[in-house]
Amino acid sequence: MSAGIDLLSFYTSHYYLDLAALAAVRGIDPRKYTVGIGQARMAVLPPDEDVVTMAAAAALPIVRRVDPDDIELVLFATESAIDQSKAAGIFAHRLLGLPSRCRSVELKEACYSATAALQLAVAMVRGTRRKALILASDVARYELGILGEPTQGCGAIAMLVSDAPRLLAIDPESGLHTEDVMDFWRPNYRGEAVVDGKYSARVYLNALARTWEHYHAQTGRGFDDFHRFCYHVPFTRMAEQAQARLAKLCGREDLAADALAAQVADTLHYARATGNSYTASLYVGLASLLDHAPDDLAGRRIGLFSYGSGCSAEFFSAVVQPGYRAHLFTAQHRRMLAERTPLTYQQYEDIFHLPLPTDGRSLQIAQYRTGPFRLAGMSEHKRLYEHAA
Ligand code: CAA
Repeated sequence: MSAGIDLLSFYTSHYYLDLAALAAVRGIDPRKYTVGIGQARMAVLPPDEDVVTMAAAAALPIVRRVDPDDIELVLFATESAIDQSKAAGIFAHRLLGLPSRCRSVELKEACYSATAALQLAVAMVRGTRRKALILASDVARYELGILGEPTQGCGAIAMLVSDAPRLLAIDPESGLHTEDVMDFWRPNYRGEAVVDGKYSARVYLNALARTWEHYHAQTGRGFDDFHRFCYHVPFTRMAEQAQARLAKLCGREDLAADALAAQVADTLHYARATGNSYTASLYVGLASLLDHAPDDLAGRRIGLFSYGSGCSAEFFSAVVQPGYRAHLFTAQHRRMLAERTPLTYQQYEDIFHLPLPTDGRSLQIAQYRTGPFRLAGMSEHKRLYEHAA
């Protein structure tokens, strides 16, 4: 058996803004959001949560199911870094009670870095009893009123990687593409991303073509060798467009748009309800697929496309393992999304503008609805985390 994803858990905020409410304030036909870009709601993170609390919340159910002493590596993938020096995973490592005999590093390359983390972890655990914990956690944030605003969101994924994976064995071949482009970026002095939206979608589709060519040259596999495809999802229509582009590249123009959309539909339920989660997004799609596919996926090959603006991208594949359904967190994921609290537009904007101190003064943050961990405040430039009451 090859190494791969042993357990996979998803977490997002307890709050959301319905995109119909945003459309009403922006004077936009709501169908542009719900149909045109394919999004229904965007998850909004309360002031007492951040990428650390989200990642730790995603990881807690995993850590409770394994012997934490086996975890020798924590890789934290994010483009919403909270510190220029310290890895966010070290805060999560403490909150989760992981052993001190462990490596902990943060990775960055826009939305792609969780895939780099996965491939590094697979290489490390292969042929050993060691396990790696990958945390991918992000808050997608654009300026208010710009075209990217309805694609905001937040979420985190935790993946346990082992040599005896209960969910997916990762195939050894990968199609790779790196190219210096400025489609989406966030300079250190900015809180919101700068984006050339239409260009970014073109670069995404070009990277899909280049990675697919490279993958196909190594494996000889074609479109029909995959049972399902799973894409990075900045908004759900992008995944549908990617699926149509891949079918065309593979000479399957004969497939109708509806049939192609159906091939990715199960991967999009969580993204439609939460918005973009950057590094976590591809794996939120994977969790959605495993949780929703009505047919048994065991033994089936899934194609995965990871895209990070700037850009670096990878097409790779994985085979679903027998008995995978017994190891999912489906009920927990569904309950989390069903029990969320809607925000008014004004509440969303108030949260958006709420600043954290940058001068070292102390701040206690009011308690909102959170997962098991919260950001209690800041003092002397330090973030103070606690277990939520
Ligand atoms: N009813 C139904 N559909 C409507 C509509 C209506 N009333 N009005 C417009 N639409 C449709 C349009 O026809 C269009 O459909 P097609 O794509 O099928 O042509 C769709 O809604 C989008 O409308 P626009 O073309 O006018 O697009 P926009 O100007 O609103 O911007 C966007 C879309 C550029 C993606 C913008 O949301 C954006 O900048 N997003 C952030 C960047 C992004 O997500 N890029 C994706 C690739 S980069 C990446 O993947 C990394 C990452 O995570 C950021």
